[in-house]
Amino acid sequence: MAHVTRETLAAADQFHHGGAAATVELANLAGLRPGMRVLDLGSGLGGPARTLAAEFGCAVTGIDLVPDFVAAATMLTELTGMSDRVSFQQGSALELPFADGAFDVVWTQNVMMNIAAKDQLFREVRRVLKPGGRFAFQDILQGEGELLLPVPWATEPSHSHLVRAEEERNLLKAAGFREVSWLDTTGRLADARLVPAAPGQAPAAPPPFGLHLVMGSSAPVKGANLLANAREGRILSVLGVFDRG
Ligand SMILES: C[S@@+](CC[C@H](N)C(=O)[O-])C[C@H]1O[C@@H](n2cnc3c(N)ncnc32)[C@H](O)[C@@H]1O
Repeated sequence: MAHVTRETLAAADQFHHGGAAATVELANLAGLRPGMRVLDLGSGLGGPARTLAAEFGCAVTGIDLVPDFVAAATMLTELTGMSDRVSFQQGSALELPFADGAFDVVWTQNVMMNIAAKDQLFREVRRVLKPGGRFAFQDILQGEGELLLPVPWATEPSHSHLVRAEEERNLLKAAGFREVSWLDTTGRLADARLVPAAPGQAPAAPPPFGLHLVMGSSAPVKGANLLANAREGRILSVLGVFDRG
């Protein structure tokens, strides 16, 4: 534990397709700068929050529904010596325990697909943003055809709340947001950390530390379905940045 670094943690604490590289790409798209106050919705183990603090100089607050994720994220942040800039608390993205206009940026990666009430989510996001603040997100969207399950975010249909790209954009517009960037990243759904060996090849043993520790024994089938859904056009992925106005 004495040798824990952000780099060693990245194999498991960036719980979204594309890993740390996707976090950095979204941060660049959103124009993150030193000193900005960022709220990370569904912060998980805290990898994205620590990346935004370490690489972009932001002060980050993470919020997550699950107390164990909050405890683990807090511990990993202490171990990496970043508790002065990064903190976590338990709560719901749908009822944010923060004042109006408290943040420069609201951030979320691979969380919106588990939230049905997107209109309520977007209202809350806009409420806690300062005038001119930005909402930056990574999301998975509905394509053509039924979703093959299980996937990393759902084992049954009632867990998954994907919408089509146009519906998401319309909901954001209806909530008062103005689009800044909409980058289709479907090609990056084939995350090497999740995708099993090619047909005919023996699966490699999982690394000692990796996403399978978070996802459990169903990680290989979830990874295979993620890839099949993407290849068959059943899902798309996007990095979005919207201005609060
Ligand atoms: C796939 S993980 C992504 C974690 C992190 N964003 C990352 O990319 O490493 C989804 C996280 O969202 C959290 N979550 C789901 N619904 C939520 C909600 N309504 N409010 C807050 N957190 C939520 C889950 O507990 C989980 O930690």
